This record gives sequence, C-alpha cells and structure tokens, in this order.
Amino acid sequence: MIMKFDDATLEEEAERLYSHLVKVGWSKSDCEIIAPLTLEINHIKKEKNAVILAHSYQRPDIIFGVADYSGDSLGLSKAAAATDADIILFAGVVFMAETAKILSPDKTVIVPRRDAGCSLADSITAEDVKNLKEQYPGIPVVAYINTNADIKAEIDYCVTSANVIQIVNSIESDSIIFLPDHNMANYIRKETGKEVIDWKGVCVVHEEFIPESVIEVKEMHSDIMVIAHSECPPDVLEKVDMVGGTSDMKNFIENNPDTKKLFLVTECGLSDRFAIEYPDREFYGTCSLCPYMKKNDMKNILDALVNPQEDQIIDLDVDLMNKARKSIDKMLAFNI
Ligand code: 13P
Ligand code: SF4
Repeated sequence: MIMKFDDATLEEEAERLYSHLVKVGWSKSDCEIIAPLTLEINHIKKEKNAVILAHSYQRPDIIFGVADYSGDSLGLSKAAAATDADIILFAGVVFMAETAKILSPDKTVIVPRRDAGCSLADSITAEDVKNLKEQYPGIPVVAYINTNADIKAEIDYCVTSANVIQIVNSIESDSIIFLPDHNMANYIRKETGKEVIDWKGVCVVHEEFIPESVIEVKEMHSDIMVIAHSECPPDVLEKVDMVGGTSDMKNFIENNPDTKKLFLVTECGLSDRFAIEYPDREFYGTCSLCPYMKKNDMKNILDALVNPQEDQIIDLDVDLMNKARKSIDKMLAFNI
C-alpha cells in the first residue's frame, strides 16, 4: 500500500463496506482493515482507466468493495466485450480472463493469480478435442465456456450455464459432442433428448454435493426452493426444484419475491452475494468453496493493478484468438 487517506475518508469507506458486508458476518473493524485497500484500488482504477470484472463466486469484499461488474460467465463476457476501459482486471479464474482477452484483444487483461485454474478447463487438451473430432467426424462440437482458449479455437459453439439448452436445441443435429463437463452433458441429454458424446471433466466444487443434503433440507423446510447448478451430479439434480446457472438463480429470486427460503446448491460465494443483495430472503443448506476462485484477494488485486507481472498479463496468440472468437461470437449472437 502506498497511498495515504485522511481519517474521514477512511471512516466513510469502512462504513460503506460495513453496510454491505455486515450481512455476511463482517465486523466494523474487519471493514476498517480493508478500507485503505479498497480506496487505493478504486483510485488506481480511475487513474489507469481500468475496470474490475468479478465472478459471483468471488469473496464478497471483492464484489462489494472494488468490482465494477459482477455476474455469471455470460454477463462477464458481455461486460468484457462492451467496456471502453484500457485495462480489465479479472477477479475470477484464468479461462474467464482469456475469454475477456479474446473479446477485447486490444485491452490489457490482468489476473491477480495465474494459478487460478478450473478443474473443468484443466481436464481437456486441444489434442483431446482434435482426437474427438477425428473419431466423430461431422458432429458439432459444443464446449462449455469453462475451457482454455486453445480448446475454444477447436470447437463450433461456446456455451455457458445460462444458454446451453437453448443453443444446443438450436443446432440442427440430433447428436453433439459436449465438453468438458460430464454432469452438464447428462443434463443436456435429459433436457434436449439429443445424443451427447461427452468428456470426463467435473467441477470439483459441484461434484461434491450429494442428494441427501437436498432431502434433509427439504424435510426441515417444506416451503424451501432448491436450485442446483447444472454442474452438479444427476442424482442431485433429480431431487431439486430447478436446475440452472448462477444467473438463473438470480433471475428466480428477482421474479419470485414471495419465495423467502432458498437452498442454492453451488459455490458459497453466490449465497453470500445474494444474502447481501436480497436481505428479505433466507439461505439454507450447505455450500462448497472453489479453491481456484478463492485465490484472489484484495492484496493480490492491488498488486496486480499497480504493477502487473508478466505472468499476470493474459497474452494469447492472435491467430488462436481469432479462431476462438468465432465460437464465442456465435454464442453472443444468440442474445440470451
Ligand atoms: P456461471 O456463473 O456462468 O453459472 O458459472 C459457474 C461456474 O462454475 C463458473 O466457474
Ligand atoms: Fe471451475 Fe468449478 Fe471452480 Fe467454477 S466452481 S471455476 S467450474 S472448479
């Protein structure tokens, strides 16, 4: 930390942070500790014409302290494509920052931690995709956005949890290759009736949920709404009231003001975010922490913004970006 702020400014910032974070257990003194950091980050953002895009699984101090936009993978892609900032700091995981770079190749895209990977993205290589295409010639290849840039360069369609069913339904083929999420492939098969050739990847966070947790919560609260992420295993999805991505969960909450009790079967950050944004709702059940998403914190965000190291700057081959962009542009053209 290099900047100094007067006491009144620090107090005002601590109060601003506290007004949000108190709802998820932060004390005023916790907020006083991070206030100099959030002030400095927000100041440097203006100075450098930078924006911070944060996935909803980020820590609530990041979302409410310094993020300019926070949302799901689809919303973040749109925000990355639309921003007129010179620098995008991506508080999320690396495949998301790569997507931002592909959509805004002239901007500097920074990640606080290069090792913020994703078990899904890391489960498949471009060589694996080429082999699948050889094995199943002519079958459209659809990939979840949770893939690295070299995978996106090999596929026909990129999708997110918010648009996967609509996009797969729109493809004029009864068979598709879907990668890398094995659980989401099961869900697509069930929802679309298509033949889905899948890959063995799983999300380490959603794979951990078990149907018993849903049954137990439903027994305790007869009026609870249980919504599970489509990355969860099929035996969990069978027991819930609704399946979708994190933006579907947000839309449900907004459109159903009378549903007061919810169990969101997903990463813990989302329930924290919603507990702050929708204080009239109650969130129950277990959640799970993503070890990759949680690598980002206020300190490494500040360091990356002030003086990004080579490994914190996303640098992709131009031809690779042009190839990868086609599958992302097709997705964005759906306007979902
Ligand atoms: P969405 O927010 O797009 O549903 O993504 C969930 C996820 O696991 C991101 O890594
Ligand atoms: Fe990857 Fe799962 Fe973490 Fe999302 S929550 S970044 S899918 S490991």
